[in-house]
Amino acid sequence: MSAPIQAVVLGASGYVGGELLRLIAGHPNFRLVAAVSDSRAGRPVADTFPHLSQVLAGVSFVAHDKWLNAIADGGNVALFSAAPHGASAEIIAAALRASDAKRLTMHVVDSSADFRYAEESAWESVYGGKHGAPDLLSQFTCALPEHVDSIPTPHVGHPGCFATATLLAAVPLMRSGLTEAEIFVSGVTGSTGSGRSPQAGTHHPERNSNLYAYKPLAHRHSPEMAGLATAASGRETKVHFVPHSGPFARGMHITLQARAKSSVSEQQLRDVYLQAYANAPFVEVVTDTPKLKNVVASNMCHIGVATDGVSVVVMSAIDNLVKGAAGGAIQWMNRLWDLPETAGLTAAAPGWT
Ligand SMILES: NC(=O)c1ccc[n+]([C@@H]2O[C@H](COP(=O)([O-])OP(=O)(O)OC[C@H]3O[C@@H](n4cnc5c(N)ncnc54)[C@H](OP(=O)(O)O)[C@@H]3O)[C@@H](O)[C@H]2O)c1
Repeated sequence: MSAPIQAVVLGASGYVGGELLRLIAGHPNFRLVAAVSDSRAGRPVADTFPHLSQVLAGVSFVAHDKWLNAIADGGNVALFSAAPHGASAEIIAAALRASDAKRLTMHVVDSSADFRYAEESAWESVYGGKHGAPDLLSQFTCALPEHVDSIPTPHVGHPGCFATATLLAAVPLMRSGLTEAEIFVSGVTGSTGSGRSPQAGTHHPERNSNLYAYKPLAHRHSPEMAGLATAASGRETKVHFVPHSGPFARGMHITLQARAKSSVSEQQLRDVYLQAYANAPFVEVVTDTPKLKNVVASNMCHIGVATDGVSVVVMSAIDNLVKGAAGGAIQWMNRLWDLPETAGLTAAAPGWT
């Protein structure tokens, strides 16, 4: 068997970082060589993630300026970034420079928003401030593996959780031409979607036993969804998106609605998805409505459809931290290294969380 690929996780102390550590620990081809965190450098990973105490026994976080010491010249490296947008691009750029100096072969998958736009100005108009590595934008593709056979770049920008759930529902529909290219999307996310640092609006008493919309029609991920749906489907897609906070820690559910161009049956609609995802190991078209419990903690997306012949409804459910971030990143990294796309990602959802 070939030598394992050395895996490095930037932003490893966060929620997505923790999921990357968990999934890498069980991956047959990746071996964790650095869990990078400045705030927890030198401290055992198990102090932050006690659920990983057995699988990462003896592993400690390492600071940004030290992790390269763990890597021998000329090796193969899978670099995952789970750092915040605005910071991720810069630390990835530094890693790629160091990688050149050490003659490493490195692929990067970034879970942040820093490589979701091809144009620096587009990113800056949504996120504000200067992009941290505009020269690298052309080296990243942002897409879902389910929607492209191959990519021309060595690195990937993950589309993010709301976009993953929405694009898996939207792209086959847009490609089918059965509806108008204007979609109305309502999404509900669990509280891990806001990351580890507590804020007033993400505090437990606010979110528990509660459900509310936020930033209706004004969320910054809307233009990403529209751009990515347009690129993947070849149809200029207009997206109206209303995100909601749900009273659970992990999981995400979206309901997409569109107007049929002419009468459409449920079977016609279902066939569109069955065909689109016939070879997609992580997408299942369900006969009932999708339910969070059937996907949470797995890399699966469940899709359900409904229509009265005029309105079309497509529902999708994913785990925001797995398919929507860490699992989706590993799926891409598997592809970038020509590994089976499912490597390390086959664990079923527990069903009860
Ligand atoms: N949560 C989700 O469901 C989700 C889904 C899809 C995508 N994402 C994206 O994934 C990334 C991580 O999200 P998260 O929810 O895991 O966030 P998080 O819990 O806040 O963790 C972010 C981590 O990044 C590190 N960090 C903070 N500032 C940094 C800086 N200036 N430079 C380098 N590292 C820094 C922190 O580690 P130290 O301070 O210890 O170094 C922290 O542990 C974000 O870009 C987010 O938008 C999140």
